[in-house]
Amino acid sequence: MSLPYKRVLLKLSGEAFKGEREYGIDPKFLLYVANELKEAVDLEVELAIVIGGGNIFRGMSAAENGMDRVTADYTGMLATVMNAVALRDALEKVGVDARVQTAIEMKAIAEPFILNKAIRHLKKQRVVIFAAGTGNPYFTTDTTSALRAAEIDAHAILKATKVDGVYSKDPKSHSDAIKYDSISYLDVLQQELLVMDSTAISLSKDNNIPIVVFDFLEKGNIRKVLLGETVGTTIGGLENARV
Ligand code: GTP
Repeated sequence: MSLPYKRVLLKLSGEAFKGEREYGIDPKFLLYVANELKEAVDLEVELAIVIGGGNIFRGMSAAENGMDRVTADYTGMLATVMNAVALRDALEKVGVDARVQTAIEMKAIAEPFILNKAIRHLKKQRVVIFAAGTGNPYFTTDTTSALRAAEIDAHAILKATKVDGVYSKDPKSHSDAIKYDSISYLDVLQQELLVMDSTAISLSKDNNIPIVVFDFLEKGNIRKVLLGETVGTTIGGLENARV
């Protein structure tokens, strides 16, 4: 089978883990996520994942509400570790081999981030979950995705969201919003479309890594993206894929 991307970096927002809950991790929803990811692994795509932590702690809003920004960011990084170990557990329950690597060492819980080891895991068809962001404050998990994607030489970043692509305006509040099938990095930046932060978009642009934005809540979508079906919006275009 010819697939457009053989190694991908999937960005999952922490929000994706809370299911119907206000806060935290919904184990039932985690199982949905794990089963969706199993479909990707079954296609023999090498899958690395970066997870946010917003279902547990939102660093930016804590900082806006008076918490020291650096402390808030570190707290957010720890939240991503909780999500990562929970996802590893769910993946293993559905029979997918997975490893967690953390950017901040906590060896009792997970492996430290070692690029060569991560690549070795990927080649053995293990899912690698990168946790604790880049290990630095002031960097979002979107930026972490773009950085790790470049480091592992990913062919694409798959940005899983709750909307079905990139729109010219917020489709919830503007009935005339237009959905793009594809769009350039520069247009995303110039139109401030806020699909990922500007550092993440710029880093992806500099490294020619296309970003596919798609609705993760629609069952089967990740498989469709990996099979090359037109789903969501591709930023940077397939012609940029580094396969
Ligand atoms: P191979 O070298 O390909 O066999 O990879 P492997 O991950 O199966 O072997 P390894 O001996 O590196 O790890 C065995 C198990 O221990 C895996 O579940 C790893 O995730 C885990 N592990 C490895 N290093 C660490 C670490 O520093 N901390 C923690 N908590 N677990 C680790």
